[in-house]
Amino acid sequence: MASYEDLADRLVLITGGANGIGQAMVEAFHAQGAIVSFCDLDEAGGKRLVKRLGERISFTKVDLTREVDIKRWVAKEAKQHGNIHVLVNNAARDPRSKLENIKVKAWDDLFAGNLRAYFLTCREASPHLVKGASVINFSSITFHNGPEEMSAYVATKSAAIGLTRSLARELGPRRIRVNTISPGWIMTDRQLKEYVSPSIKRELKKIQCIPDLNQPKEVAEVALFLASDVSRAVTGQEILVDRGWTHS
Ligand SMILES: NC(=O)c1ccc[n+]([C@@H]2O[C@H](COP(=O)([O-])OP(=O)(O)OC[C@H]3O[C@@H](n4cnc5c(N)ncnc54)[C@H](O)[C@@H]3O)[C@@H](O)[C@H]2O)c1
Repeated sequence: MASYEDLADRLVLITGGANGIGQAMVEAFHAQGAIVSFCDLDEAGGKRLVKRLGERISFTKVDLTREVDIKRWVAKEAKQHGNIHVLVNNAARDPRSKLENIKVKAWDDLFAGNLRAYFLTCREASPHLVKGASVINFSSITFHNGPEEMSAYVATKSAAIGLTRSLARELGPRRIRVNTISPGWIMTDRQLKEYVSPSIKRELKKIQCIPDLNQPKEVAEVALFLASDVSRAVTGQEILVDRGWTHS
């Protein structure tokens, strides 16, 4: 893994850090010597990760659909550590459902966790974001390839890109950058368990420019780059981490 010395001792907030790509980012920022604070609904998973990694890391149980939880978490971290250098909006759910089966409550709940939470963390962190800070919002390759039976999820992921683009303009004068990472299909534990069959692996290897499967750690490495000062000229952008699946 590349080394980004400027990330050492910087406060990094990550949502949904107990599993999957979020967990890989917690590990990656921790390895750079950053002070990592992550939140998740999965209390057991969060505590396990803190125990494994040790110092300079903290976990808070947060339900990102609850404004009060987000306010408390961000305020607590800012009070304890001061300036926030990196905010990563990673947590999201990706349910599958046919259009006619989507209830209004399910639609609204998904938007609360996948989109409203991104706005709320940005709003609450904003007064504590320093010059040179970096905000990273997670979208998805599905914004580009528009799979069926994921309309609510894809709508939230499209909106994450819109949020990034507008906030990049608004926060730019303060020298704060805002970018999007859109992962391709990433081999997280959950994806492997629930969705990635041998035939999907074969299909991905055919459809991507580079026929290797994408790993959570590889997404984390792009997050490190976007968080570091080395990418100081990059803002308002979407970076696809998909080995060229969308390249046609
Ligand atoms: N894995 C993929 O193939 C893939 C592809 C494209 C985009 N993405 C995006 O990458 C990001 C991470 O995905 P992942 O695959 O690692 O997901 P994951 O399901 O493995 O992990 C997500 C984490 O977020 C937490 N979370 C979900 N809702 C929450 C809430 N309301 N409050 C607090 N925590 C909550 C979960 O408990 C979990 O620990 C998401 O934004 C996802 O949309 C993933």
